Amino acid sequence: MQFGRLFTFSVVLFAYFMLLASGAALLPVKEVEALKEIAKTLGKTNWNFSVDPCSGESEWKTPLQPEKEKGFQNTVTCNCSYANNTVCHVISIILKAQSLPGILPPELVKLPYLQEIDLTRNYLNGSIPKEWGSMQLINISLIGNRLSGVLPIELANITTLKTFTLEYNNVSGVIPPEFGNMVSIERILLTSNNFTGPLPETLAKLTTLKDFRISDNHFTGKIPDFIQNWTNLDKIQIQASGLEGPIPLGISLCTKISDLRISDLKGREASFPPLSNMNNLKTLVLRSCNIVGEMPAYLGDMTVLKTLDLSFNKLTGEIPSSFNSLKSVELINLFGSSSMGNNSSGVFPCLKSFRCPQNSYSFHINSGGREVVADGSTTFEDDIDSGGASKFFLSRYNWAFSSTGNFMDNDAGTVYIATNTSGLTMKDYQLYMTARLSPLSLTYYGFCLLNGNYTVSLHFAEILFTNDKTYKSLGRRIFDIFIQGKLVLKDFNIEDEAGGVGKAVIKNFTTVVTGTTLEIRFYWNGKGTTGIPLKGTYGPLVSAISVTPDFKLPSEDGKKISPGLVVGIVLSVSCLIVIVLGILWWKGCYGRKNEIDEDLRGLDLQTGSFTLRQIKAATNNFDAENKIGEGGFGPVYKGLLSDGTIIAVKQLSSKSKQGNREFVNEIGMISALQHPNLVRLYGCCIEGNQLLLVYEYMENNSLARALFGKFSFVWGYMAPEYAMRGYLTDKADVYSFGVVALEIVSGKSNTSYRPKEECIYLLDWALVLQEKGELMELVDPRLESNYIKEEVLGMINVALLCTNSSPTLRPMMSSVVSMLEGQTAVQKVASGSGISSDDMKFKAIRNQYQQILDPSMNDSQTQSMSMEAPWTESSTSASDLYPVNPDSQYWKDRE
Ligand SMILES: *[C@@H]1O[C@H](CO)[C@@H](O)[C@H](O)[C@H]1NC(C)=O
Ligand SMILES: *[C@@H]1O[C@H](CO)[C@@H](O)[C@H](O)[C@H]1NC(C)=O
Ligand SMILES: *[C@@H]1O[C@H](CO)[C@@H](O)[C@H](O)[C@H]1NC(C)=O
Ligand SMILES: *[C@@H]1O[C@H](CO)[C@@H](O)[C@H](O)[C@H]1NC(C)=O
Ligand SMILES: *[C@@H]1O[C@H](CO)[C@@H](O)[C@H](O)[C@H]1NC(C)=O
Ligand SMILES: *[C@@H]1O[C@H](CO)[C@@H](O)[C@H](O)[C@H]1NC(C)=O
Ligand SMILES: *[C@@H]1O[C@H](CO)[C@@H](O)[C@H](O)[C@H]1NC(C)=O
Ligand SMILES: *[C@@H]1O[C@H](CO)[C@@H](O)[C@H](O)[C@H]1NC(C)=O
Ligand SMILES: *[C@@H]1O[C@H](CO)[C@@H](O)[C@H](O)[C@H]1NC(C)=O
Repeated sequence: MQFGRLFTFSVVLFAYFMLLASGAALLPVKEVEALKEIAKTLGKTNWNFSVDPCSGESEWKTPLQPEKEKGFQNTVTCNCSYANNTVCHVISIILKAQSLPGILPPELVKLPYLQEIDLTRNYLNGSIPKEWGSMQLINISLIGNRLSGVLPIELANITTLKTFTLEYNNVSGVIPPEFGNMVSIERILLTSNNFTGPLPETLAKLTTLKDFRISDNHFTGKIPDFIQNWTNLDKIQIQASGLEGPIPLGISLCTKISDLRISDLKGREASFPPLSNMNNLKTLVLRSCNIVGEMPAYLGDMTVLKTLDLSFNKLTGEIPSSFNSLKSVELINLFGSSSMGNNSSGVFPCLKSFRCPQNSYSFHINSGGREVVADGSTTFEDDIDSGGASKFFLSRYNWAFSSTGNFMDNDAGTVYIATNTSGLTMKDYQLYMTARLSPLSLTYYGFCLLNGNYTVSLHFAEILFTNDKTYKSLGRRIFDIFIQGKLVLKDFNIEDEAGGVGKAVIKNFTTVVTGTTLEIRFYWNGKGTTGIPLKGTYGPLVSAISVTPDFKLPSEDGKKISPGLVVGIVLSVSCLIVIVLGILWWKGCYGRKNEIDEDLRGLDLQTGSFTLRQIKAATNNFDAENKIGEGGFGPVYKGLLSDGTIIAVKQLSSKSKQGNREFVNEIGMISALQHPNLVRLYGCCIEGNQLLLVYEYMENNSLARALFGKFSFVWGYMAPEYAMRGYLTDKADVYSFGVVALEIVSGKSNTSYRPKEECIYLLDWALVLQEKGELMELVDPRLESNYIKEEVLGMINVALLCTNSSPTLRPMMSSVVSMLEGQTAVQKVASGSGISSDDMKFKAIRNQYQQILDPSMNDSQTQSMSMEAPWTESSTSASDLYPVNPDSQYWKDRE
């Protein structure tokens, strides 16, 4: 060992001296000095100049590490092939997501061979140095900084420039006409700045342009006709740019476009632009463009179209029949665009048709959160539905919401509920811990309201940006608010109004209800940043809504809406679904719908539904041969659908006290979940007194398989935050892991463990033991004394860390592994940090979810499986613990 190291060291030393002796491949001192100056100007402190910058070692090339920021990069690249491989030159500097605090370095010119400078997501201020104009740069990326000033005309002299990206800064002034001389330019990305003036005519010469984005600026004039000269264009985004419509007809000549987004155009009405030659269109957004007339039928023939958003126009006539063949489209949004959606209030005509049995005169919603008592003694009702690209959700109170739109270019995860990540200290902070988010349009409806004047109080706090000197603080969220169809707040910016991030602002409005319905709409108008801190962070965010009457109440009769009414409204929702046509085309949703119990109509269309006949056929009429287990709620059968899919069918015993509606709600929640680490729920069937859940079939349900196979975390132990809010994260996996780790140590299943009357759950029991300081009592007595106490205690403590009720306090999986391997000390678990053992609500929730999510494991199986998988044998590593399916969305989400 010692000798080996010494030997390696000697070899390295020898090689180094040989290199010096031969004078091979060295970076000129001038460039090293330049790098030192550049570091100083940028505020980059961790370059180690004792190490050769071209060595690719130390901080000169940090590989992407999981602990680092998403998008983090730290690379200096040299080309060492100069002068017969004896001289190096720096050709690329990429420093991403590092929140560097300095300014852009004019000293870059001292690196004459530099081709690429990428300073995406830092905290740099000042302006773009005109000195750069003399360089031979190919890529300049400055996305997400604090840059101001104007564009130096000298940049136009960089004839080699291919990429110039400046999104999410504050650069102002006009685009200099000289920019028309950039003969190599392919990408100009200027979104979210403060540019003014018209686009100069000289830009017509930029025929090499492939990607042009100028959204969220203050340009003036019309969208120029010369964009027709950009025949190589692939992507173009002009959303809330300041430019006016109509869209020039010549755009039809840009036949290579795959991504066309124009929205929030002022200017006169015009008919649909001629796009019939654009056969490559994948994304087409022409939202709020003042388009009138009919929707062209050729859209239905676009074979590669995936996203279509024509919402908020004045389109008339029928939706062309060719749209039926738009099988590949994942999202169509025609909200408020077809003649059916004439009224901006989509739900109103549907709700009008039925009678309100009881009047109400107020409502209070904790948007995106659980029920909270705040503002004195007002109960803010829960609003935890996970939302979706097209969602109408009817609460069990006298309000509903509808949300349309799809987060575009999304790295932030498709989450329609925002959760704050730092501590909040304002009054009634519980109202602001979570908020409902929408990528486009979010409307809350209050109904059966007594006519009269009301005060609408809207509560906001910005919780997705930070309050520090990092790039995460640089986000700008801007949206419009309409009440009863009237614009009440334009370009609302929560952070500005509240005086910072994590601070509350309450906006009060008086409004009149005349038709018993109140409508509050939040609309993303294309403004603000869309990629800070991560791509896909934008759109309206609302924390709580409170509506109170300005008039004296007549009498105290029935505040709450009756269940009968709810059913009535649920029926009318099918009418709304036609209007809000943003549909996730879920296989098998159509055609079968009419046979489903009416409760199911309230669900959005994410869950497939099956007929009893189908399931009988698949399971050979519930043949005992096909029975693969007996779950807590009833038997589980294996089945084969006619299309060859193997399924597991859980037959919920009709004895079960669960009402249809609760059952349906649960399916709604589970099916919204798309997490590769869980057994997938395909759908359900409700007919007569049969309640059936149809799951993905998992081959051989042994724990060992589950541990190391494709679905490593298919244990169904739901983290408490999931049960509360309807979403899953890696940290929920960590939770599951913790529970299973406890099971392994104790040799018992989480649910069946009943050492004492009051401790039904292993986890709760562990917490009790922890408080008593008797954790070793958990250990499986069958182990006798064949274990090392420290290791077992370590494992239990790791398990307790993992099952912390707060996801943020749970360790990363990599730290878990490192703790289990003894490489790092096990963090101390704060006593009482888990779920308190007397929280019956958690228990009930956990139990329920466990049963439903886990069709093939019943209590006794879980227990015996725990025994089959001795922990100590495996060579556990982080990669073992994660799924190996490379197609998994999971991996995409983690990038
Ligand atoms: C810089 O690198 C040298 C040589 O590898 C090393 O000895 C030194 O500790 C490093 N300095 C820092 C601050 O990391
Ligand atoms: C490069 O090396 C080759 C052979 O190794 C030699 O013939 C040639 O002259 C060298 N060129 C320069 C510019 O040093
Ligand atoms: C410039 O950026 C593009 C896109 O990121 C990349 O493919 C290309 O290699 C870069 N070119 C140089 C010279 O760095
Ligand atoms: C950049 O920021 C620093 C410190 O925050 C400040 O001293 C300097 O004046 C700023 N420069 C510009 C051009 O705003
Ligand atoms: C651009 O380059 C041309 C020719 O090299 C030179 O005459 C001109 O002054 C430069 N313009 C700027 C703004 O640097
Ligand atoms: C944008 O630029 C205009 C002048 O062109 C200036 O008045 C305004 O303050 C700038 N806005 C911001 C947010 O910097
Ligand atoms: C733009 O294209 C039109 C016709 O397609 C042509 O007449 C015009 O000269 C072009 N303009 C430039 C600046 O290339
Ligand atoms: C929209 O509704 C109004 C009345 O609500 C009606 O007068 C108008 O004709 C409708 N427009 C269309 C295009 O159906
Ligand atoms: C509602 O408020 C308006 C003023 O905003 C007032 O003119 C009207 O009389 C009020 N209506 C009722 C029913 O109080």
